[in-house]
Amino acid sequence: MVTVHPPHDLPPPTPAALAHSRQLGELIAAEIAAVGGSIGFDRYMELALYAPGLGYYSAGAAKFGPEGDFITAPELTPLFGRTLAGPCAEWLAQLGPQAWILELGAGSGALAADLLETLAASNQLPATYAILERSAQLRARQQRLFAARIPELLPRIRWLNALPETPIEGVLLANEVLDALPVARVCKTAAGWNELRVAGDAQAGFRDHPSPASPASPALGAALAALETALGAPLPVGYTTEWQAWLPAWMASLYACFSRGGMLWIDYGLPRHLYYHPERTTGTLRCHYRHRAHNDPYRWPGLQDLTAWVDFTALAEAAQATGWSVQGYTTQMAFLLGAGIDHHLALLDPVADYNLLQRTKRLLMPSEMGEAFKVMALGKGAVEAPTACAILDQRARLWPMA
Ligand SMILES: C[S@@+](CC[C@H](N)C(=O)[O-])C[C@H]1O[C@@H](n2cnc3c(N)ncnc32)[C@H](O)[C@@H]1O
Repeated sequence: MVTVHPPHDLPPPTPAALAHSRQLGELIAAEIAAVGGSIGFDRYMELALYAPGLGYYSAGAAKFGPEGDFITAPELTPLFGRTLAGPCAEWLAQLGPQAWILELGAGSGALAADLLETLAASNQLPATYAILERSAQLRARQQRLFAARIPELLPRIRWLNALPETPIEGVLLANEVLDALPVARVCKTAAGWNELRVAGDAQAGFRDHPSPASPASPALGAALAALETALGAPLPVGYTTEWQAWLPAWMASLYACFSRGGMLWIDYGLPRHLYYHPERTTGTLRCHYRHRAHNDPYRWPGLQDLTAWVDFTALAEAAQATGWSVQGYTTQMAFLLGAGIDHHLALLDPVADYNLLQRTKRLLMPSEMGEAFKVMALGKGAVEAPTACAILDQRARLWPMA
């Protein structure tokens, strides 16, 4: 259960952090001025998170863990990576000896280190562990972690600047990556859909663009009309939500990148009819600052994470349209249980590992990460789904009206 804090409840940043945020604010303001007074929310989010050297993910903030702003599953417990080694090994065993694991957005590198240690212990290592990471600062952090924890495996690890051009056989892993990608924000009016834009400057701060907001582009308008058709009823006037326009292009480029293999997407999200539920009138966009969630994306740009939930029906449809098959969709709790997390738990000492046991339970508990987080497995070519997909198959929930 996420508690949403009012803005006055947030701990104040240090003067140095505020100066950093102002610098990023000036960069955003310069772009707003250059294009005539407003930018799309997706562009604002792109700059706030990824502006080189200044964005939240590109700069030096701690981000994950107790010193940072939020915690992800691999940061919480090594049992996440140890358990995911099982489904990865099942896929790797079906692929050739040259098969890769390709991780998108590897964060601190914790998932890669836990997974590789486990695969090494069972002699099931991939030929290559490749990481595609946008943030140069995180890439350096990953390199330091691997040098300290798994120096003997460094020759297998490589960092990519783009997806491989020659198709690979392999497994793609992405934990909490989709929720960190820029989204457009849209609002339904009596005249149709508008795209929310951002105006303002570094001194006065940024804000939603004042009315009249801009009508959605023809492509965005058509996509939102198709969404309402799929939902079976129009959304109410005033409804504000997000739109992940890049999903089809992403799935298409990933399809081209693999000759055969599987992908695991893990994130908080919902099937379309629940994501775009008529009562979810303000969308799913959230900000995370020092372990407090709040709703003001314009507060201290560069110092806080901005994130939106994943529409897993849209992910499945974008993937299927390019040729991926949906091999599994279920809750994180069901997937980890199916992948044998109980075996890894049983290896812990109930006294010495008490804190680790408690942290690991958070991955599974429905009130914590067990149900809000979902796992989607996608396959290309002749590959069987990992057995964990079969434990609580919820694929039918993606299209309840079909
Ligand atoms: C919320 S963090 C999750 C990090 C890590 N997977 C974890 O679970 O701790 C999002 C990660 O995705 C990365 N990222 C965002 N956009 C990306 C892109 N287009 N390609 C690769 N990585 C990306 C970020 O730099 C960051 O490492």
